[in-house]
Amino acid sequence: MGLVKELGRNSTPVRSSQAFETSDFLQALAKVWADRYSVSPELHEYDHIFGHLVARLSTGEEMKVFEALKHYFENGAANAQQVRELMTSLGLPKDAKVLEFASGYGRVTRHLKDLNLVACDIHPEAVSFCEDVLAVPAIPSASAPEDWEPGEKYDFIFAISLWSHLPDGLFQRWLSSVCAALKPDGYLMFSTHGAHAASVVPQLAEVLKDGQQYGYLDGSDQKDLDPSIYGSTVVLPTYVIKAIYDATNARIVSFKSAGWWGLQDEWIIRVP
Ligand SMILES: C[S@@+](CC[C@H](N)C(=O)[O-])C[C@H]1O[C@@H](n2cnc3c(N)ncnc32)[C@H](O)[C@@H]1O
Repeated sequence: MGLVKELGRNSTPVRSSQAFETSDFLQALAKVWADRYSVSPELHEYDHIFGHLVARLSTGEEMKVFEALKHYFENGAANAQQVRELMTSLGLPKDAKVLEFASGYGRVTRHLKDLNLVACDIHPEAVSFCEDVLAVPAIPSASAPEDWEPGEKYDFIFAISLWSHLPDGLFQRWLSSVCAALKPDGYLMFSTHGAHAASVVPQLAEVLKDGQQYGYLDGSDQKDLDPSIYGSTVVLPTYVIKAIYDATNARIVSFKSAGWWGLQDEWIIRVP
């Protein structure tokens, strides 16, 4: 999930035939790591991490594939634990209704099956994968926040590495729509690239120059998503605080610089 890796990636989209050629080897390795955490070893061919793995295999870097899978499962488990600890620190009960917004193909989701969890993503294949393969209820998202139909309300919504990719305008509109899907007193946690990310990723620093509080790059890990809805975003606290107050009636509960992977900032807000 590191931005440096995401920006550095330049591989072509994974084709099914490529996926079939390598799936036995990948699945065998994936099982080694998945078994350690008692989670599903399944990877979806469109998961962008799967794309990294296939690209490495095609260059004969089997050891790197092993390391990447280790990272996928270890980091997914660590991120899931961070979510659990966050819920505990917020005083949320074990049976709280939770939505993982922008779940992707379940890197974290698969480690949270003990929660009362629903997954959600803009990619229909990711929604089907979470539901059919990982056996986690899942709902679709939408390109326009106003078209999203969450169906029910949640005590806690978390979005790991989505607002770090939303352009100005959608940044605020998604805050508004997602907060509207919270029950009274519900919490939203989202992550952003902020000052720390800009200090370690030169491309982000570049778009933040001249005292800007917001910067945006067209490139991202999700090659099929149009840059008008998803790219790589960097925002400083003044921008985020204004977005929260303009777009929602939530109050800010906490802010942790580089709280995710030592890279992305963590914001927690609560609706009345
Ligand atoms: C960087 S990935 C993070 C995936 C996952 N949260 C994780 O940590 O592994 C960003 C995800 O956001 C999803 N996404 C992009 N735009 C979205 C939207 N408008 N609504 C829901 N999901 C979206 C993408 O499909 C992708 O799965």
